[in-house]
Parts: sequence; C-alpha cells; structure tokens
Amino acid sequence: MKEESIDVKNILGLQLPTDPRWVNLAEMQLEEILTDHAYCEQKAATTCITLIQRYSDKEKLVKELSPIVTEEWGHFRMVLAELGKRKLHLGKQRKDVYVNKLIAFQKKDGSPDDRMLDHLLMMALIEARSCERFKRLSEGLDDGYMRNFYRKFMESEAGHYTLFIDLAETYIDKVRVRKRWKEWLAYEKETMKSAEVRGDRIH
Ligand SMILES: [Fe+2]
Ligand SMILES: [Fe+2]
Repeated sequence: MKEESIDVKNILGLQLPTDPRWVNLAEMQLEEILTDHAYCEQKAATTCITLIQRYSDKEKLVKELSPIVTEEWGHFRMVLAELGKRKLHLGKQRKDVYVNKLIAFQKKDGSPDDRMLDHLLMMALIEARSCERFKRLSEGLDDGYMRNFYRKFMESEAGHYTLFIDLAETYIDKVRVRKRWKEWLAYEKETMKSAEVRGDRIH
C-alpha cells in the first residue's frame, strides 16, 4: 500500500496520498459514490464547455477540449448506466466542498492570463486527484467488476491531467506555470489534510 502511494505521488505530483481508510468507507456507500461520481463527470464536461466559450480565440484549447467534453459526458453516461443497473437513482447534486475550496484559491483580481492559468491548473488538479481516487478504488474494492470499472476511469483521467498542464504551458510561460502549479499542489495538500474522511464523496 505504501509503495502505491509513492507511485501515485510521482505520477500526479499530489503532495498527500488519500487516507487509506477512504476506500473502505467508500465501499460501504457505493450508491453515494456513484451519484457523486456522476456529478463529477457532469461538472468536468460543463467546465470544458465553459473554457471553450471563454477562450474561443485559443485554437489549440478549443480543439483539444472539444473531444474531452464528449469523453466526460460519456463517463457521466457510464456512471448513470451503472446506477440504472443497480436500480438506483441519480438523485440531487450535493455541495462539492472540495471544489469550492479550490475555487476559493483562484486569483480573482489577477490578469486575464492569471485567471486562465488558475482555471486550467484547477482542472488539472481535480483530474489528478480524481485519478488518484479512482486508482484507490480500482485497487482496493473487493468487487472485481467495480475494480475494473474504476480502472477505466483512472486511465482516462490521467490523460486529462496532463492535457490541462500542457494547455497551460501552451499559452503561458512554463516557469510561471510550474511556479503556480507548486502553489496549487501545496494548497491542495492542506485542503486534503483538513478535510474529513468521508466515504460518500469522490473527493
Ligand atoms: Fe471523466
Ligand atoms: Fe477528466
């Protein structure tokens, strides 16, 4: 287990691995996890659309994020189908404490470039943490079918994490991107440290 944590940290740059208790809690509340997960995918698709609208003059961003919208929406549908198979309902969206904390870290009064950078890095971070959580589920769940289910998401979100970093580096000086990325990682670590470990949320 410990070695996995180091592995995850190296791949994603995350500063704090998920509390090992989380996967056991999640396993007991899989319906809640699936609902929360479905909304994570919906938000990912929605945010990519927002980025395309906001930065429509940036051709690479538009081109690269367009298929991600489809992919994230496909993920939403996969989770929805899984809920359906279990005769469960999507239910209402809950308050996303994790994402709200990240939003609070975005520079509100920075230059347009600062704001774009923060938006892209925040997305990269959410993808990285989601990927890490899916990895935990794909390794730690008892149910082989669900381990496999989450492995597919894990692979997909790993690619998204790198895409957002790459897009940031396309439009903004790499040194500046890396400096701000480190600040985001440090902030996220503190956020995770102070957060309650709960098994009804992906984050
Ligand atoms: Fe996704
Ligand atoms: Fe994603």
